[in-house]
Amino acid sequence: MNLADTIRAIPDYPKPGIIFRDITTLLGNARAFRRAVDELVQPWAGGKIDKVAGIEARGFILGGAVAHQLSAGFVPIRKKGKLPHETVSMVYSLEYGVDEIEMHKDAILPGERVLLVDDLIATGGTASAAANLIRQMGGELEAACFIVDLPGLGGADKLRALNVAVRTLIA
Ligand code: PRP
Ligand code: HPA
Repeated sequence: MNLADTIRAIPDYPKPGIIFRDITTLLGNARAFRRAVDELVQPWAGGKIDKVAGIEARGFILGGAVAHQLSAGFVPIRKKGKLPHETVSMVYSLEYGVDEIEMHKDAILPGERVLLVDDLIATGGTASAAANLIRQMGGELEAACFIVDLPGLGGADKLRALNVAVRTLIA
């Protein structure tokens, strides 16, 4: 099985001219989901990760599975206004305009080793903001991993420029 074949491309979603890479078909395929999680965690199978941080919304699905596989805790990084306790937040740029993500202030302790997980990296704006939040709280960001990289948009390079190790499975 080729993992890339389990993802579908939806033309003109959510806007005309955008080809949306839809991973729900990978998630719905039992072998593909297992393979994707196994491949993502492979470098950390020895157990050196304390927390897995997943980015809303599809990063929650993968991040939960990855955290379970690594016997690590899970930390949700959410869109603004969704978390109930005290938060730290980071504004980041979208193609047009800005957005904001948040994490609970006490979710990551200084020195904890953190793996950042999302389904896909495009411009890298979301993941860079998440990386900054993790480091702001004193977390040791071991790496960021994604099923899909859209290399034309430069997100993985942007993260590497911040000195973040990046692991992706499909370009
Ligand atoms: C998508 C994707 C990443 C982000 C990547 O999420 O799941 O989180 O965009 O884009 P970037 O690299 O250009 O920042 P989206 O914003 O669509 O949120 P959702 O998962 O809540 O639908
Ligand atoms: N799929 C999912 N999320 C995304 C995409 C995509 O193609 N592009 C930007 N965010």
